[in-house]
Amino acid sequence: MMNDLFLREARGEATERRPVWMMRQAGRYLAEYRAIRAEVDFLTLCRTPELVAEVTVQPVRLVGVDAAILFADILLPLDAMGAGLQFVKGDGPSLRHPVRDRDGIASLTRPDVGKELGYVFDGVRATRRALAELEPPHGPVPLIGFAGTPWTLAAYLTEGRGSSSYSHLLGWSYRDPEGLSGLLDLLADVTIDYLLGQIEAGVQAVQLFDTWGSLLSADRWRGLAMPSVVRILEALEGAGVPRIFFARGSSHLLPVLRELPVEVLSVDWFVPLSEAREIVGPDKVLQGNLDPAALLGPVDEIERLTATLLEEGAGGPHIVNLGHGIFKQTSPDHARAFVRAVKELGKPR
Ligand code: CP3
Repeated sequence: MMNDLFLREARGEATERRPVWMMRQAGRYLAEYRAIRAEVDFLTLCRTPELVAEVTVQPVRLVGVDAAILFADILLPLDAMGAGLQFVKGDGPSLRHPVRDRDGIASLTRPDVGKELGYVFDGVRATRRALAELEPPHGPVPLIGFAGTPWTLAAYLTEGRGSSSYSHLLGWSYRDPEGLSGLLDLLADVTIDYLLGQIEAGVQAVQLFDTWGSLLSADRWRGLAMPSVVRILEALEGAGVPRIFFARGSSHLLPVLRELPVEVLSVDWFVPLSEAREIVGPDKVLQGNLDPAALLGPVDEIERLTATLLEEGAGGPHIVNLGHGIFKQTSPDHARAFVRAVKELGKPR
């Protein structure tokens, strides 16, 4: 029988206990992931459906989480648009053809996602098959799909790589906001096609990652980043899957984020969940928000902090998660301690 705690909590329905999963739960903190990465590079892994299924299922089997998140990357659609994505070892992602003005937008294509990103959809189908074979207590569990927000994709696309300042994007936003919104609109169009494709292939929820929305004040986020996000979320309305929005460093954005047409808001660890609940109101499910660094501490401290987190989140529907991705230095035993603590303590509300 399917473990559907995650889907029921995401819809705000009553559950026996709160579900738990972790952002970046498939990855380098697991020796089983590193063993696969020793054989293939990151992009090859993303493009090989059987391997995608294997690494997506690993944290379900090895750590016991209540949901799987598709193994892919937010930057894959930029590659499909012609920006030339590469991952150089030790350097993180980079794009061979950054886009920094209106002329640059013309160099991008709106891809046929079925052709250019069909490998992702094949990965979704392979993963659903692999999840269906898991026996209780591990599975089957629901599969979450995802994409980056247009603003966050534009941060990488304008810079050509990760950055601490994103001066190309921010400069463009002050110099020519209409031109930039043309880029964000194109990215939204592609993201809508991409997420609808994931849903058609079998993902049962979707999360939008806004890693760099925190570069903006609440007013600027509303003016610059929000319109393309709302367009994506509204396009998914009829698809019938829960929509999750995650913004890193977003405490100051919560009064705006509460207006988003999503079922679930994922918050980082800078505000306690009880405070986020007061700002957001009763209608949304909250997801989060243990400091990922807490998993580097001792197990008894992880258990104590998880108990506190569960109390903080007890004022409404709550999907337990970290406030951002798990560190690659985390011991799998500590990840398991977190999940186990939720399973033991996350019961009554
Ligand atoms: O387990 C999961 O969460 C699913 C897979 C997933 C990955 N990336 C795999 C990955 C997800 C959801 C992402 C999202 C992502 N990718 C974001 C948004 C979330 C966030 O963290 O804020 C961003 C900004 C990216 C872009 C990206 N991909 C960067 C900056 C890096 C390098 C940083 C690093 O940790 O090395 C990646 C690489 C990446 N994406 C890895 C994984 C497992 C590590 C690659 C490896 O195996 O070497």
